Amino acid sequence: MEHPQPIVVLDFGSQYTQLIARRIREMQVYSVIVPCHIPFDELTRMNPQALILSGGPCSVYDPASPTADERIFSLGVPMLGICYGLQFISHRLGGRVEPAARREYGFAQLEFGSPSDLLDGLPSPLRVWNSHGDHIGEVPPGFRVTGRTENAVSVIEDSARRIYAVEFHPEVRHTDRGDEILQRFVFGIAGASPNWFPRSFVEETVERIAGQVGTRHALCALSGGVDSAVAATLVGRAIGDRLTCVFVNNGLLRKGEFEEVSAALSEQGHLRVRAVDASARFLARLEGVTDPEQKRKIIGEEFIRVFEEEARKLGEIEFLVQGTLYPDVIESVSVRGPAATIKSHHNVGGLPPDLSFRLIEPLRELFKDEARRVGRELGLSEEVTGRQPFPGPGLAVRIVGEVTPERLTMVREADAVVQEEVRQAGLYNRLWQSFAVLLPVSSVGVMGDARTYASTIAIRAVESEDGMTAGWARMPSELLERMATRIVNEVRGVNRVVFDITSKPPGTIEWE
Ligand code: XMP
Repeated sequence: MEHPQPIVVLDFGSQYTQLIARRIREMQVYSVIVPCHIPFDELTRMNPQALILSGGPCSVYDPASPTADERIFSLGVPMLGICYGLQFISHRLGGRVEPAARREYGFAQLEFGSPSDLLDGLPSPLRVWNSHGDHIGEVPPGFRVTGRTENAVSVIEDSARRIYAVEFHPEVRHTDRGDEILQRFVFGIAGASPNWFPRSFVEETVERIAGQVGTRHALCALSGGVDSAVAATLVGRAIGDRLTCVFVNNGLLRKGEFEEVSAALSEQGHLRVRAVDASARFLARLEGVTDPEQKRKIIGEEFIRVFEEEARKLGEIEFLVQGTLYPDVIESVSVRGPAATIKSHHNVGGLPPDLSFRLIEPLRELFKDEARRVGRELGLSEEVTGRQPFPGPGLAVRIVGEVTPERLTMVREADAVVQEEVRQAGLYNRLWQSFAVLLPVSSVGVMGDARTYASTIAIRAVESEDGMTAGWARMPSELLERMATRIVNEVRGVNRVVFDITSKPPGTIEWE
């Protein structure tokens, strides 16, 4: 197939880099991210339609600051610098960047100046999201200043060379009309057409994986969630029955999940699925473990051991397919940048160092809602594509403290009540996630005139676009009351229910 010309995002290490690519893909325009130090001939081979230079944590004057090949300025393609990208452009094109006397973090008012290609038609002032310590001291020759905040030059433009730069972050939702600013660049200045995603993503990925795997074999770890189902289907399209899927019961699944998911997957027909019950060995390894990271590492490693055993039974397997999404990557490892490790998602930071497979992660650059759209394009059922996310380490990270069979039963039963009630109320698809967490807290209660001293369940329900940030869901009080009553009545060992009203940040969605 003919590849559309990409809008290439040069990554200088910002935690928002992926958001830039995502916003462009939302416009149905093909966009890829490459490290800023990509060799120049590799970049030109990609035939970019435009370049976007991302933000980054460094100062351009720092000797270790990330840099890009100077020749990008003579490529003649439209260019947009964002934050560090603006400073890089200014510094390299003869301007001056200096440490700001007043740093700008958070909201600022952007006041427009002379007529602007980038801001044309938008109302001044705009509320924009800033995060910078340096700013422009002297504007590079050839550029006009078209926007300022109280403390800094915020937008510069050179229409003749089609080079544009902004100090704020148009890609984050906090910036008013940020999407429109990006659209002006992508459509108005770069002249891109909305001709991409998700069909071309499918075609391109299938073609790439077919080339990568050749005549060899792959194993896919299915979790029953949308990500692994989409990853498996993509790889299945590429290599047919040289893909075997393994769905592992790690003993940490939701009530009825192993059975339901096995049934739903076998209905998909085209996938060869082996269901493996490994619950006993997972639970044995978790005995006595209370540290969240240790739980995650153990589960991650045990998954791999199970896959290795399955692979040995099947013969020559070289590749392991995983449904890793971008947020799993960014929160598990520092991707060339400042984003610190938050927790080890089992299929990323939890991989053992001696992994004997090569990984195929076709969704590694996508967000959950993008993976859902790809799933629908592939014809997967709504039952699969609409499922709320469920973490790989399962209920283990929803039991604060030790995982024991009794505590698993408690959280599983309480969770089943939450699921049932949320579905009944018609909220399942509106919520990013809704579930129960078992706390290591006992409290006094009274039931049937008798004193009780029993465990606490927390109900967690959040709304989110991509799992990176989330707000607690304003659930109807009658619904909360029904869930609380049912949990205390139906789940042995629980006498108290609380509702978690923490957003992310500062909390995370899961409790561990
Ligand atoms: P947190 O708790 O980090 O979760 O706010 C963000 C999203 O990721 C899911 N999650 C995981 N998914 N493996 C996964 O596949 C994991 O180890 C994992 N940990 C968290 C979580 O359910 C939420 O949707």
